[in-house]
Parts: sequence; structure tokens; C-alpha cells
Amino acid sequence: MDNNFLQKIVSLAKRRGFIYPGSEIYGGLANSWDYGPLGVELKNNIKQLWWKKFVHQREDIVGIDAALIMNPKVWEASGHLENFTDPLVECRKCHERFKADQVAGTDCPSCNAKKSLTVPKSFNLMFKTFIGPAEESSNIAYFRPETAQAMFVDFKNVLDTSRKKLPFGIAQIGKAFRNEITPGNFIFRTREFEQMEIEYFIAPPQSDQEWQEVFEHWRKAMLSWIKNDLKLDPKKVHELEVPEKERAHYSKRTIDFEFEFPFGIKELYGLAYRGDFDLKNHEQASGQNTKYKDPETQKEFWPHVIEPTWGVDRSVLAVLVNSYEEIDGKVKLKLPKKLSPYKAAVFPLLGNKPELINLARKIYLDLREVFLVAWDERGNIGGRYASQDEIGTPFCVTVDFQSLEDKTATVRERDSALQDRVKIEVLPEYLQKKING
Ligand code: GAP
Repeated sequence: MDNNFLQKIVSLAKRRGFIYPGSEIYGGLANSWDYGPLGVELKNNIKQLWWKKFVHQREDIVGIDAALIMNPKVWEASGHLENFTDPLVECRKCHERFKADQVAGTDCPSCNAKKSLTVPKSFNLMFKTFIGPAEESSNIAYFRPETAQAMFVDFKNVLDTSRKKLPFGIAQIGKAFRNEITPGNFIFRTREFEQMEIEYFIAPPQSDQEWQEVFEHWRKAMLSWIKNDLKLDPKKVHELEVPEKERAHYSKRTIDFEFEFPFGIKELYGLAYRGDFDLKNHEQASGQNTKYKDPETQKEFWPHVIEPTWGVDRSVLAVLVNSYEEIDGKVKLKLPKKLSPYKAAVFPLLGNKPELINLARKIYLDLREVFLVAWDERGNIGGRYASQDEIGTPFCVTVDFQSLEDKTATVRERDSALQDRVKIEVLPEYLQKKING
């Protein structure tokens, strides 16, 4: 795979309304992207499936939806103010900045000025803003660089109101912001993105084996999500044990789940053991007790944390890349059925026969009660199939003259292109079974 392939994805995404360049009528804004009508459906389907699997279907996990802008003391306690930095060098001539580890020597890679690069300086990746009208240092706040911290800051409130006992987790889906130095590769690395994160709290382990077992549980759960829900090709998924010197400041062990993107093998998700770093620091910084009291022994302690974390936008990109197929110049997007924006499309065989349109319209409206359905009455049936294949619609339902006689319709399946004649009255159940099966 190569960047030519990525360009095909970018162009399909734009052409069919999945993802557009952000602020396009003003010439765009570098590395900002807007999800269009189909993109928002795909992204929401991913988030809803994740929430169902990891929150609704588990007794040991509850969700929150916290504010994006938190008290700046949070970022002092979490270590982000001090450690969430990249060493940068700057060209004295053109003032472009580069990650120190990505340039060799002191010549500017951009304007080629000789010996123009400065010594590396730390650059904090958090987006700064001011609360209220006065731009004073006392009003500085930050857009959260990860959703995780809210789960620690709200830990006591969640504990008191949900009455969960260890081990249990807090989940959140939401936006995070990072002033990345080298954003790029479409929606892979942007400055505004979404995360799905779980902080899973366990009693302080008495042995390495204790936390390793929980870590292993989450490793398998993440792999199951990747293979069974996103249905990514297992051959293109790799696990990387992150060496100590490359781990985040809080992590005692990290695994990166990587995917073969068109631009190389890159991080998709992460899994980290954070120890008791966060709750302990928040107690020390806030002066509030963030400990858990064991209901049996009445002993108080800071739970330890295993953190599985998923990027929403990287999930979207991986699914698009994995699903894209092109045969004889025709694109077929083999999205997992549950994730497809439209679950079905309904067509009257001819767009100028009111009796066909009326029956097809009724089927369309009935199916819309169950899931999102597309309607198309333009051109020939082959063209309509091709158009739905391109956006990943798993089923097309065609109403023809036989339908008026025997109350059946043709159901054509995207991947096999096979057709089935199905009784109209059982269509919703028929399709639902195939989508969930
Ligand atoms: N709370 C831990 C944490 O934030 P991370 O590895 O920095 O860990 C988690 O981020 C996930 O968020 C990544 O695995 C990736 O999927 C996604 N992510 C991180 N930075 C991103 C960016 N600039 N653009 C898009 N997704 C990003």
C-alpha cells in the first residue's frame, strides 16, 4: 500500500460525504477535517458499538461525559504541564519548527538555510486558552489533551453515586486536543480528535501476576474489538511492547496495537498500566481524599489503573482502509455491516411508475423505523447498486412488477452480489438478522 492508495480513500471520503477538508470555503485549515453525512454515521456507529460492548454489556463499567476544559491544576497534577512536551528546533531564518529527533544536523530542511537550526527547546503540546475576557496568566486554561484525567478527577463522585466495588472501570468518549508538531496522513494525526478511553481500577496488586492478569484481559478485549467488531485484517494488526524509555511518564507497561496504514505500520490504540500515579497525584495536589475504602476491611488505598485507549478517528481510518476494494475501476466498501452508514437502500425498479414508487416508499419508511435506509430512484439498477457499493450499504431492496403481484422484493447482498427474493412483510427481521449475524 502507498500514499496513492490513501489519496483514493481521501477522494472517496470527500466525493461521497464521509469526510471533507475543514473550513474549505476559506481555503481550508491545515489538517482539520469535517465529518459529512455518511462519515458522522460511520463514526457514531463505531462509538455506539464501543459503548454497548464496553459499558452497557459489562456490569463493572460505568460512563461519564466530562467538561473539556478542566481546572488547570489537573494538568499540573497529571504531569502534563511538565512532561507533555516535544523537543523542537526552530530555523532562525524561516522560523519553521521541527521535532528535534526528525532532523539531522543544523541545516533547515525547509528553506535549506545553513546552520540555522536552534538547539532543542521543550514545546508543550497542550492548547492554551483563557477563561473569561481578560487574557491574563491567572486565567489560563487548557483544552484537555486526553479524556483520561476526568475519570480520575471524578473518581470519588462516581464511586459514591454508582456504589461500584473494585475492580471496576470508568469509560468516556470525547474530544481531545494536542498541538501536534507533525500532524498529517488525513485523519490519522490531527490537532483535534476523539478518544474512547477506560480507566480500569484494581486493588493494589500483591504481585506482578495480579495486574498482569487484568492487563491480559484488556489486551484480549482490545484484540477482540479490532478483529470481531472493526473486522480489521488480523494480518495487518501488530502488537508492540513499548520499551521503558519510550513509555509515557506514568506508565509501567504499554502495548501499542498497530495497523498497516497505507503510510506505514502505525499506532492504532494503546494499553497502559498506570499504577496509582494519577489518583495519588490528584490527592496530593487537591488536598481531597481520592482513596478507595475497602467495604470489608475498611482499609483505604489508591487503586491501581489499567488503561485501554482507542482513537475514534484512527478507527474510522483503519476501517475505511481495510474495507476498500476496487475491481475494474469500481469501488466496493466492504464495511462491517453494523458500521455501515446505511444498512439498506430501497429502489423502485423504474423511477416513473407510481405503483412501484408507492410500494417501495412504504418499504423504505417501514425500514427507517428500524435503521438508516437510503432511497434511490435515478438511473438504472446497476448504477444504483454500484453507488451503494461505494458507500458500503450492505443490502439493496428492489421493488419490481412481481412485487405488486406476490408482495416480495429482491434483496441484493453487497459482498457476494447474490440476490434473494424475500416477502416484504418479513424484510425488517430478515435484514436485521443478516446485519447482526
Ligand atoms: N490517556 C492515554 C492517551 O491519551 P495516547 O496514546 O496518547 O494515550 C490514545 O492516545 C489514542 O488516541 C491513540 O492510540 C490514538 O488512537 C489516539 N490519538 C492520539 N493522538 C492523536 C492525534 N493527534 N490524532 C488522532 N488520534 C490520536
